[in-house]
Amino acid sequence: MSNTAFIKPALAEHKARLLEEGLQTLFAKDTNRFEQFSAQCNGLLLDYSKNLIDEDSFAQLLDLAEKADLRKKVEAMFKGEPINNTEKRQVLHTALRANPNDISNAIAEDITTAKNRIYELSDKLSSGKLKGHTGKQIDTVVNIGVGGSDLGPYMAVEALTAYHAQDTRFVFVSNIDPVHISRTLKSCDPETTLFIICSKTFTTLETLANANAARDWFLTHQPDEAAIGAHFLAVSTNLEAAAKFGIPEQNLYPMWDWVGGRYSLWSAIGITIALAIGKQQFESFLSGAREMDQHFRQADFKANLPVIMALLGIWYSDYFGAQTQALICYDQNLSQFPAYLQQLDMESNGKSVKKNGQAVDYATGAILWGGVGTNTQHSFHQLIHQGTHLIPVDFIVGTRSTDPISDQQAALFSNCLAQSQAMMQGRSKSSLIEELNDQGVEGVDATFLADHRYVEGNKPSNTLVYEKLTPYVLGQLIALYEHKIFAQSVLWDINAFDQWGVELGKQLSKQITSVLHDPGKADQQDSSTRGLIEFFSRHQK
Ligand code: F6P
Repeated sequence: MSNTAFIKPALAEHKARLLEEGLQTLFAKDTNRFEQFSAQCNGLLLDYSKNLIDEDSFAQLLDLAEKADLRKKVEAMFKGEPINNTEKRQVLHTALRANPNDISNAIAEDITTAKNRIYELSDKLSSGKLKGHTGKQIDTVVNIGVGGSDLGPYMAVEALTAYHAQDTRFVFVSNIDPVHISRTLKSCDPETTLFIICSKTFTTLETLANANAARDWFLTHQPDEAAIGAHFLAVSTNLEAAAKFGIPEQNLYPMWDWVGGRYSLWSAIGITIALAIGKQQFESFLSGAREMDQHFRQADFKANLPVIMALLGIWYSDYFGAQTQALICYDQNLSQFPAYLQQLDMESNGKSVKKNGQAVDYATGAILWGGVGTNTQHSFHQLIHQGTHLIPVDFIVGTRSTDPISDQQAALFSNCLAQSQAMMQGRSKSSLIEELNDQGVEGVDATFLADHRYVEGNKPSNTLVYEKLTPYVLGQLIALYEHKIFAQSVLWDINAFDQWGVELGKQLSKQITSVLHDPGKADQQDSSTRGLIEFFSRHQK
């Protein structure tokens, strides 16, 4: 723990007391704990009662948000102040889902025009009027992108499978490993496939390599370059580069530098989402996010879902020393949500200098990891229950299935609740010994087994519950996490909207690629990199 002003001694004392007291006692002392520590945003419930907090400590946490001037900084973001101070950019992903009347005319018109073009395309696809160069109907859409130009759309297209407007197949290619694009192309028909190249910068190595591979493949089947117009679209801020690549002007969809890559699924980068679910459902997706935006701006901090989750994350990172945080989505529709959220959270808050450039002396962004469904119980929950690390968990679950079968949803729901309950209450040694004695195991044998079976409990979790996963609910969930991450960045005083570390990797990969093509240059590399390059060169044939 640090001695910075950010760390309050009063909260440190609360931490020690609450850890000692334990969650079970907190529940025993206050039978209204759920009522006191739960909040809702239009149908999305957050139960945060299974956290190591009580009224006093929570009030102190809320005070951290007040002291950080969070309300003012939230408004600065929504109003388009250039809060991304290292790139001198506005952060306006929220404008993409706002009512046009609520944002500046300068961007409202651009947004509406781009959206209408996307909806036109989506109508054509769902009505079977979107045709390839030979007149056959498009039946496969391949999104080529990486990071924010892949993870968000991929996650949402998967999550909203129940709402797809037609039978079109959607495939996402991101890895520069040739396996990814090769296998995808093998499953595609050049007469019926539409490639969408998504790249904010249109300079990203992986995306350009995969896009070139797709274009070459297409041209070997159909050598007439004019046919590209019926099969290739691009979304970018760099429309010039996309046009140079060979995408006809009418197939270029703009985005703007005020949308960060990892926040871009609301822009034309989300074109596959709109193609998959159609205009009406896409609008509902936007309106779910808009609802969360209003909630974040207006709700009292003590009932404000993103603020509460942000404060709890900080509580565990900076006061309890928790290094990681797990996200366990019981809803199978959310299979890609943990991977999506890893970029959103870790690329945003993986920072170690404050906005003014000074080094922080407290922990910032947690290591986020997780999984989907009850399979996680049979893989990593053991470490959460009985391991040595404190790992706060977010559980996400619906009360109704998008694809119901018999009473499986109740089984799913109860599994989720059982896990958070087990983490919270654990299992005492005395109750284990009693049970073992009843089974005829006595004395040292019983003590030995009880030592191993003992589950400490006191492991905190949040549970997010909604009725059924719809485009609206998905919009709410994504915006909730976007704002949680932003609120944390405000309290940590870091810039959540740049990613200079990633840029370093991009630069070095370019240098190393050039050495691989010309091994004579390898002597400028360190011995590890040189050795690995030499191994690569020796094993090429
Ligand atoms: O990973 C770094 C990053 O800049 C992300 O923020 C972005 O989503 C990704 O690269 C892809 O960039 P682009 O959309 O420009 O190809």
